Amino acid sequence: MEFKNLIYEKEEGIVRITLNRPKALNALNAELISELNVLFDALAADDGVRVVLLTGAGDKAFVAGADISELAHMDSFSARIFADAGQSMMAKIALLPMPVIAVVNGFALGGGCELALACDFIYASEKAMFGLPEETLGLIPGFGGTQRLARRVGAAMAMELIFTAKRIKAEEAKALGLVNRVLPPEQLMEEAQKTAATIAAMGPAAIALAKAAVHRGIEVDLISGSYMEKEAFGLCFASPDAKEGTSAFLEKRKAVFSKT
Ligand code: CAA
Repeated sequence: MEFKNLIYEKEEGIVRITLNRPKALNALNAELISELNVLFDALAADDGVRVVLLTGAGDKAFVAGADISELAHMDSFSARIFADAGQSMMAKIALLPMPVIAVVNGFALGGGCELALACDFIYASEKAMFGLPEETLGLIPGFGGTQRLARRVGAAMAMELIFTAKRIKAEEAKALGLVNRVLPPEQLMEEAQKTAATIAAMGPAAIALAKAAVHRGIEVDLISGSYMEKEAFGLCFASPDAKEGTSAFLEKRKAVFSKT
């Protein structure tokens, strides 16, 4: 797939998406958001993709936020349309059947932090910095940051980070539960690839069902979430992978799961 602001690479079921506007620190302009929207729709229909890695071009930034040169010309109406495009693009990530890992190689500020938060989990370089600096621009986060950050780290911590526009380093972000792993810059992509390969070897139906159960379940009460889990557990048996996985265990051999 060819894009103007994205690099798309696919190898053995693992897709790597590189946001590619390094001169603007990969800032999310309307065109890039639209390309991500198109790409996520295509991924949703591609049963050959097991895992997606999302990263930023260059050694400085994952994404330094929404493109401020576009924000500077917006009014209330166009800002709502812009926020809507960004929010719906990011909402697609949770709906994809395959895991999406944010590989945060540098600044993840504003919309960049929001994009990382929208992914299923985050691996970060020791050099990465996270923050929602919108208040310094007279704005608030508009791509889900007030919602996803509060859900991830709690309302009080989210409000402190938003109100002060404080930037935090990867290790602090990990301590807050924002980031799963912090790695030296030269090992970041390699480790993310290893995790992706581990996931890619699992049964794709069971991975998709686990992802959906977590994302849907976290929004509802425990009883309702557990009910969804039970239904998803039942659905696992509609795939030959459940028979293969359990038989392989009993036969003391390695399971070979289906490709789709
Ligand atoms: N939008 C547009 N351009 C950006 C940008 C952004 N968010 N962030 C950086 N750039 C551009 C700079 O304008 C600069 O371009 P020129 O070389 O043409 O001048 C280039 O990227 C390099 O940036 P700096 O020279 O500023 O690099 P630095 O190392 O001195 O600083 C930085 C790096 C701390 C990340 C700084 O660039 C910065 O603070 N960026 C803005 C961060 C921000 O406020 N993000 C929130 C945006 S609002 C938002 O995201 C709203 C929302 O939720 C929807």
